[in-house]
Amino acid sequence: MVIGLFKKLSRKDSATAANNVAIADKSSIFAATMIQYERHNDGIAVFTLNNPDKSANLINRAFAARLNELIATVRTDTRKPVVAAINGTALGGGYELALACHYRIALNDPTLRIGLPEVSLGLLPGAGGLTKVVRLLGLQAAFSYLIEGKKANPGTALRDGLIHALATDNDDLMRQAKAWIEQQTRPRQPWDDPDYRLPGGDPRKPQVAQMLAIAPAILAQKTQGNYPAPEAIMNAMVEGAMVDFDTACRIESRYFTQLLTGKVADNMINAFWFQLNVINNGQSRPAGFDRHTAKCVGILGAGMMGAGIAYSLATAGINVVLKDISIEQAEQGKQYSAQLLSKIVAKKQMTTPEAQSVLDRINTTTQAADLAACDWVIEAVFENRELKAQVTRETEAHLAETALFASNTSPLPISGLAAASARPQQFIGLHFFSPVDKMPLVEIIVGKQTSDDTLAKAFDLVKQMGKTPIVVNDSRGFYTSRVFATYVLEGAAMLGEGIAPTLIEAAGTKAGMPVGPLALLDEVSLSLVFDIREQARRDIEAEGLTYEAHPAYEVLYKMVRQLNRLGKKVGAGFYDYPAASKKQLWPDLSLHFPIRHNPSHPEAQQQIQRELIDRLLFIQAIETLRCLNENVVRSVADANIGSIFGWGFAPFQGGTLQFIRSYGIDAFRQRAQALAQQYGKRFDVAGLDFGQL
Ligand code: NAI
Repeated sequence: MVIGLFKKLSRKDSATAANNVAIADKSSIFAATMIQYERHNDGIAVFTLNNPDKSANLINRAFAARLNELIATVRTDTRKPVVAAINGTALGGGYELALACHYRIALNDPTLRIGLPEVSLGLLPGAGGLTKVVRLLGLQAAFSYLIEGKKANPGTALRDGLIHALATDNDDLMRQAKAWIEQQTRPRQPWDDPDYRLPGGDPRKPQVAQMLAIAPAILAQKTQGNYPAPEAIMNAMVEGAMVDFDTACRIESRYFTQLLTGKVADNMINAFWFQLNVINNGQSRPAGFDRHTAKCVGILGAGMMGAGIAYSLATAGINVVLKDISIEQAEQGKQYSAQLLSKIVAKKQMTTPEAQSVLDRINTTTQAADLAACDWVIEAVFENRELKAQVTRETEAHLAETALFASNTSPLPISGLAAASARPQQFIGLHFFSPVDKMPLVEIIVGKQTSDDTLAKAFDLVKQMGKTPIVVNDSRGFYTSRVFATYVLEGAAMLGEGIAPTLIEAAGTKAGMPVGPLALLDEVSLSLVFDIREQARRDIEAEGLTYEAHPAYEVLYKMVRQLNRLGKKVGAGFYDYPAASKKQLWPDLSLHFPIRHNPSHPEAQQQIQRELIDRLLFIQAIETLRCLNENVVRSVADANIGSIFGWGFAPFQGGTLQFIRSYGIDAFRQRAQALAQQYGKRFDVAGLDFGQL
């Protein structure tokens, strides 16, 4: 009789645990001591899964060998009752192991997560997990766990049938596990029962058949055909539900192998496992500096960004002093947190006193002197160099010698802003993304004089906030804004060439971007993008260099200066924003940008679309490669993760540089040169070094 006991993981480790198991065979680091085995006097054997050196238990070849060895030790006759006693997060392979047990009890700890999120790495649960969850929950209920990768807390897992019971503490967990074992005479899995029926019915049942008839279309709309895993999961679920358990497991394995050997899983594992780990483990953090923990952070400007940053700091347990020019504006910024917190309370993810204590961490002011005790100040005032210089000087006068200063500017080079600082070595860029509470990335910008100590502390602050830091060197637009701009400008250039806007937008989403380039330009505001480019032109010309206008310039000029279509914020951009209905492309767009390419024949349409998709993806990859060559972005991992987390570059491609690797460097070069000949120098890669990829 055996009990599997899972290691207790912190909430932050949950995702790691899932990823660990999903890519089991790619790692070789593992100690056999990770599964401890004890045989108790009552005849019950306990396997404890606990890797003392790691926050997550990694399932790899060595783990499997050790597990098999132990199972052979205890398995002197057939079938013994086996309980999974889950006292830590069990995601992916960890939960598949639990599914192999007859009974599952979990510690009722709300931070613990249970589920099968393999889909997020382009895979499916291939160790029997898919087949078992379908048989436990039924087809429909299994959808959210298998296709969406839902992670449940213990209460939800019990309600949905992923586990059988909850325990109040570790002792209770063991007590219940042993009690259940004592009661068993012939334990078996539900599907081994001759009377077993699939919950909710199999695919032949009319209601199920009806649901399955529309499911592929809904899925295809979501994935745009770019993600093979959800499709393979659905196929394996349905096909497996029609046959016996062993055959279903074989079907599952075949789909798993297909996914594992495909490009998308490779791209996604590379980005969301290997590179994300490299980043989180501090590859870009200078070594040799003690870990920094911020207690109090001042924020200048309680507008859209300042309010969001305040919320993210306060929820991470950091005290905030939020300053604006009037107390009403500062309070309005705090109100933003109050609203977000009340939604969380309404969803029962926080109690009212907990929410209040988060809110109480935010203090509002109009006085720079009130920031005196802050370890950090983050500046998020209007985008104006003189104003930023003035608030930097005014605030620094009140700060401790050791305090650090960060600007959240999006377009202005950090080294220039640092000129206003009396201690530029303690000045750095922390570029947050909007909405701050949802966006996981922070781009740290190292100015010419920023010290390594400041960089290490900035890295720690971002991690303390639970966000992912990438580190880049100072340059116009830094990394993310610079490459993001190429996507939206390429879309605008296409419009100027006479391509139908519907085709442009469809190409964007089919390429895997969250929204089409014209819709995105509307969101960020055409006038803002136009102004930034005008400022860049003035700066470049002031340096005595020649500014090369992008072909999108004329489109922007016409929209902003002649047609007063400034974007979503004024309700008029490439789209119209009627109050009572969904946005729609501005019908007059074709009067100002006559359509010359909109073939009705589907094949010709597809051909144009392929070309547009290539342009949209290539231009971002090429600009990223330029950033890498110019040492603006410092590592391939930062570039890939920054592109996905920062502006939503197609996740299935694994990031802008992984796109090049996956395409094949030679093939990429050739295609880029062909695009350069047709559309201009911005696609030219002749002088670029691909060596670091
Ligand atoms: P916003 O216009 O919403 O807020 C600016 C706030 O600064 C206003 O509340 C204003 O009253 C306040 N302010 C002005 N002078 C001040 C002073 N002397 N002391 C204290 N507060 C003062 O602007 P938003 O969008 O929040 O942008 C702020 C900064 O963040 C800009 O540098 C912008 O480039 C950057 N940023 C903006 C992003 C966005 O998506 N909006 C994304 C990333 C960075």
